[in-house]
Amino acid sequence: MKIALLGGTGHLGVGLAVRFAILGHDVIVGSRRLEKALKKAEEYNQILESLGEKSKVRGLANKEAAKEAEVSIFTIPWNHAFSTAELLKEELKSKIVVSPLVPMEKIGDVFLYKKLPEGSAAEKLNSILESRVVSAYHNLPAERFATFEEKFSWDVAVCGDDEKAKKTVIELTNQIEGLNAYDAGPLAVSSMVESITPLLINIMVRNKKKNLGVRFV
Ligand SMILES: NC(=O)c1ccc[n+]([C@@H]2O[C@H](COP(=O)([O-])OP(=O)(O)OC[C@H]3O[C@@H](n4cnc5c(N)ncnc54)[C@H](OP(=O)(O)O)[C@@H]3O)[C@@H](O)[C@H]2O)c1
Repeated sequence: MKIALLGGTGHLGVGLAVRFAILGHDVIVGSRRLEKALKKAEEYNQILESLGEKSKVRGLANKEAAKEAEVSIFTIPWNHAFSTAELLKEELKSKIVVSPLVPMEKIGDVFLYKKLPEGSAAEKLNSILESRVVSAYHNLPAERFATFEEKFSWDVAVCGDDEKAKKTVIELTNQIEGLNAYDAGPLAVSSMVESITPLLINIMVRNKKKNLGVRFV
């Protein structure tokens, strides 16, 4: 499958790009700047080579990446994702778009989920785009997810109103070793999943833990 990581040059992008490429998907790393996309793609290809993988990722500007992809993942900070969505509306029309967006703010030393009038970041993205928006990957700790020699076992709650699109994202996620995707319901559930991330961060900070994910047991 052709998968674009829009803003795939950052923390969450690297883990998803490399892991989907290992699985044989055609992965495109998107950026606002083509040169940065090309540079990061080269970096990710070096990681793939060091892991003994033949697969390669490609770098493109976000617009071209969105145009080519069947599935586009918004690995962009939540407060910049909506303006990016406006710019890519045409390229993403009728296609699967994944929101890992977590709106949060730090008040003093506490991380709080930021409620949006639309209900959640995924619902806001859905209100901008004419796409098949699916919400997933909010609770993955990006740093450990990008440590490729380590094993992990995390659950991923997936929400969406388009059942077929949600099924595709669940199947893609389950292909990644160590991830187990669950159908968590419609997009209206997304705020609950998004808000787990600031909770995890508060627990990590206060208990001097790193890289906590979630498991439903
Ligand atoms: N980090 C985590 O552990 C984690 C875990 C789960 C979910 N998430 C969610 O995943 C998303 C990405 O997180 P991240 O930590 O990977 O973000 P990040 O590393 O801070 O940024 C990712 C990329 O976003 C692009 N970007 C930055 N400012 C932008 C702007 N004004 N307009 C458009 N693009 C911009 C940049 O790409 P270019 O400069 O190449 O365009 C940057 O490399 C966030 O919404 C976050 O809530 C993060």
